[in-house]
Amino acid sequence: SAGSPVNIIIAGAPASGKGTQCEIIKEEFSVVHLSTGDMLRAAVAAGTDVGVKAKEYMDGGKLVPDEVIIGIIRDRLEEDDCKTQGWLLDGFPRTAAQAEALAEAGCTADCFLFLDVPDEILVERVVGRRTDPETGKIYHMTFSPPPADDEELIARLEHRSDDTEEKVVVRLEQFHTNVAAVKGSYEDIMVSIDGNRAPADVSKDITESINAALAKRA
Ligand code: AP5
Repeated sequence: SAGSPVNIIIAGAPASGKGTQCEIIKEEFSVVHLSTGDMLRAAVAAGTDVGVKAKEYMDGGKLVPDEVIIGIIRDRLEEDDCKTQGWLLDGFPRTAAQAEALAEAGCTADCFLFLDVPDEILVERVVGRRTDPETGKIYHMTFSPPPADDEELIARLEHRSDDTEEKVVVRLEQFHTNVAAVKGSYEDIMVSIDGNRAPADVSKDITESINAALAKRA
């Protein structure tokens, strides 16, 4: 209904810019950002049961099995903050089964944002990506470099173990196998956005699309 918080799904290939745009969306719309990649990496780091199960798949660039991830997201969406602030799903659903599970749980999105970026651009983005473990901020050594005078920050930047040319080939294969089925589940709320532009230009279209979805609902 018009008064309820906005629920958003953002999708796109590996390194299409989902995390970068989510940083901006959560500031603008005060939604709860749920990145399944971040949640799984945290589980691996903490050595939980889920982490142990997920690790070998993630290391190989493969999707973790649906049954490992579906329960986590369902439980998380049941929590109060998601219900009162609205949610922003980043990296989920990634398969037809995940999309079905979300619908069965009664979780309906207002807007499905798809970031469209050609494969050849993605490899370069993956290889140059670095993240700050303290703030979670995403950088790129060429396209979005950290401040050159902040030696402490530069020294602590991390390069994900699946961010190699070899692994991104597998990650792209997994993406191309599933993308049509996922998009097909959200045809009526899907907005395709050209993600091969400066982050601020991509962001402008995203904000407009979310506002349009909200206006339509009202
Ligand atoms: P996940 O962490 O979700 O990885 P991903 O989908 O491959 O996405 P990325 O985090 O790589 O990229 P992004 O789109 O967020 O791009 P970013 O903004 O960082 O998943 C990792 C693994 O977890 C999976 O392989 C799988 O094993 C598992 N997993 C997760 N969810 C799952 C699920 N639902 N089911 C099963 N398994 C699951 O940008 C990338 C780089 O480009 C950065 O350096 C950034 O600075 C730069 N950049 C961003 N925007 C621009 C721009 N406009 N121009 C130039 N550079 C840019």
